[in-house]
Amino acid sequence: MKKLILPIALVMVATAAFAENQVATLRGNAGLADNQPAPAIAKTVNTDIRQVRNYPEQPPVIPHKIDGYQIDLNVNQCMTCHSRTAVEVSQAPMISITHFMNRDGQFLATASPRRYFCTQCHVPATQARPLVENTFVDVDEVLDYLQRSEGNQ
Ligand code: HEC
Ligand code: HEC
Repeated sequence: MKKLILPIALVMVATAAFAENQVATLRGNAGLADNQPAPAIAKTVNTDIRQVRNYPEQPPVIPHKIDGYQIDLNVNQCMTCHSRTAVEVSQAPMISITHFMNRDGQFLATASPRRYFCTQCHVPATQARPLVENTFVDVDEVLDYLQRSEGNQ
């Protein structure tokens, strides 16, 4: 047991130091008790051009403004364009078949309640800069890399 305590303590100290750095980068140089002026709200991208998904299961980002579209117990304005029957008029993509599935994989006649609140998963694209840098690469790039390194062998 004693042998474990030192490594655990080290990991905890390292994690705390890491977390502190992360917080500091998001807050800029502001002290913990200071309030920075809020940054400007990023502009919505309203191009109507559907964006590439970063991976097949990504909920696509919304390429249009959604200001004022009501989603509550009685009304879901997204469905006035995205429901199965609305798309002929709206030319919007229909909510995908997964949105009709309940958690047991059964297909329902209407959208599943767990997919009702669209903005739980879909957000409008904005011009915001990423808060922290990331090194994400698309899976196609990974496949290219693998193919190239196999070719080199
Ligand atoms: C007036 C009709 C209309 C309404 C209302 C509407 N949309 Fe759309 N939506 C579209 C159309 C048309 C497109 C296709 C791209 C474009 O023209 O903007 C689209 C595209 C999308 C896409 C991108 C799909 C893809 O495959 O990339 C998502 C996600 C989306 N809408 C979600 C929503 C959500 C969530 C709401 C409600 C908050 C909503 N939409 C309300 C018409 C609508
Ligand atoms: C629990 C998360 C979740 C909710 C809630 C949700 N979606 Fe999605 N949506 C996804 C995911 C994940 C995908 C991509 C994979 C798929 O099709 O299931 C997607 C795909 C889509 C697409 C693209 C369909 C296609 O075939 O290209 C549209 C349009 C869309 N959703 C609209 C909506 C609308 C409108 C609502 C609200 C009625 C909604 N979604 C609610 C997660 C969600």
